Amino acid sequence: MPHNSDKPLRLVVLISGNGSNLQAIIDSIENDSLPARIEAVISNRADAYGLQRAQKHGIPHHVLPGKEFKSREEYDQALQQLIDQYHPDLVVLAGFMRILSENFVQHYLHKMMNIHPSLLPKYKGLNTHQRVLEAGDDRHGCSVHFVTPELDDGPIILQAEVEVKDDDTAETLAQRVHREEHRIYPEAIRLFAEGKI
Ligand code: GRF
Repeated sequence: MPHNSDKPLRLVVLISGNGSNLQAIIDSIENDSLPARIEAVISNRADAYGLQRAQKHGIPHHVLPGKEFKSREEYDQALQQLIDQYHPDLVVLAGFMRILSENFVQHYLHKMMNIHPSLLPKYKGLNTHQRVLEAGDDRHGCSVHFVTPELDDGPIILQAEVEVKDDDTAETLAQRVHREEHRIYPEAIRLFAEGKI
């Protein structure tokens, strides 16, 4: 069902680490009038720096560590309960480093986005920058997509390309791709908020 664009889109953002994409979304809400509100940030890791970003901006945040649960299904049920307390219109995966169970994904079908550091369908999975260099590709980039049960699959919403330079390392490439991630993730959320997807 399209979002009622009179109200800010309710977001729950899931992270595991630095949270630079989370920061880009916060900045876009605060400075570029992205019509959204982050209701909560949830991390599976207590040491995720993104939690401090949430704290600094007064956003409710939670840690749900995987080791406290016997199975992926149990973890995902607890995660789902926590998320649903906030009644999100959209769940935003921003560097959330866990495989998601089928039931969880089905529950948020068409309501959960992910950002991946490659031009999908190329380079699903980890270490994408290194793999691009090893393959000798001259283009690389990032993709925002809806989450479906297959890993790093699902309909693509936006992509951005960067040129691979001769002297690039995985680190320099990652930096350039990150800049593009920070541009297209808020843009994809805006399209969703405006009912344009
Ligand atoms: C990004 O590269 C994103 O594409 C991938 O995980 C990384 C998260 O970075 N899914 P950050 O935590 O947002 O800085």
